Amino acid sequence: MIASRIIGHRGAALLAPENTLAGIRCAANCGTQWIELDVTLLGDGTPVLCHDNQLDRCSNQSGPLDYLTFNDLPSLDVGSWFDPEWINEPMPHLSDALLLCESLGLGLNLEIKAFDLDPALVARKVFEEISVYWQHPKKLILSSYDLEVLNHYRHLDLFAQIGVLYDHLPELWCLQAQALQAVSIHCDCNLITADDASAIKNQGFELYTYTCNDLHLAAKLFEWGVDGIFTDNPPLMLENFHANHP
Ligand code: G3P
Ligand code: MG
Repeated sequence: MIASRIIGHRGAALLAPENTLAGIRCAANCGTQWIELDVTLLGDGTPVLCHDNQLDRCSNQSGPLDYLTFNDLPSLDVGSWFDPEWINEPMPHLSDALLLCESLGLGLNLEIKAFDLDPALVARKVFEEISVYWQHPKKLILSSYDLEVLNHYRHLDLFAQIGVLYDHLPELWCLQAQALQAVSIHCDCNLITADDASAIKNQGFELYTYTCNDLHLAAKLFEWGVDGIFTDNPPLMLENFHANHP
């Protein structure tokens, strides 16, 4: 297995502001071995952690993310929306997030949010940062819903561990994943079926499902052969599903 059975979603999104350095530290403090983070680009091409292409939901500002450049980051607070405890938590540059994960010994699933960005550009910007700031290729999975971005990434790095993200599993999933030489399929935990899970495992892919915060659902997913779950609440899942469960 590449990742761990319990993967902190956006860090530990129930316990600390998502996609922040505070969230990464929180996940590690809870004993999480792998986390998932979302990366996208600011208007000047700076790769940052952010799930949305708008600032409104998770910051003290509003409007499109790509109106910002690197120089705007110091005035952005992506913590206080979650809780005043995290006021002035910065939006992390990808390089800082990579360095922190490495220093904490975390494995990382970096999900590339392409939105309407140039897929070649976003793949290249992410690749350039990873080339400099990440030392352990076996502890990194690059994933995206966007097959074009993944295809560009594959051409930049023949050895990258790539995961393909789906909400509904399309008919062509296997051909798409094989064309990308993907190692894993990442599916919506509420939409996947037992048959989907068997098919994915029978074709030799690892299977990770998002976003599971419910113990009964997690138990069912593991029974179906799911390798790991993304959860906003890593301590709850770690308490209930130790490494060898079921
Ligand atoms: O990478 C798994 C999961 O994070 C995908 O959905 O919307 O939470 O980024 P989302
Ligand atoms: Mg994500």
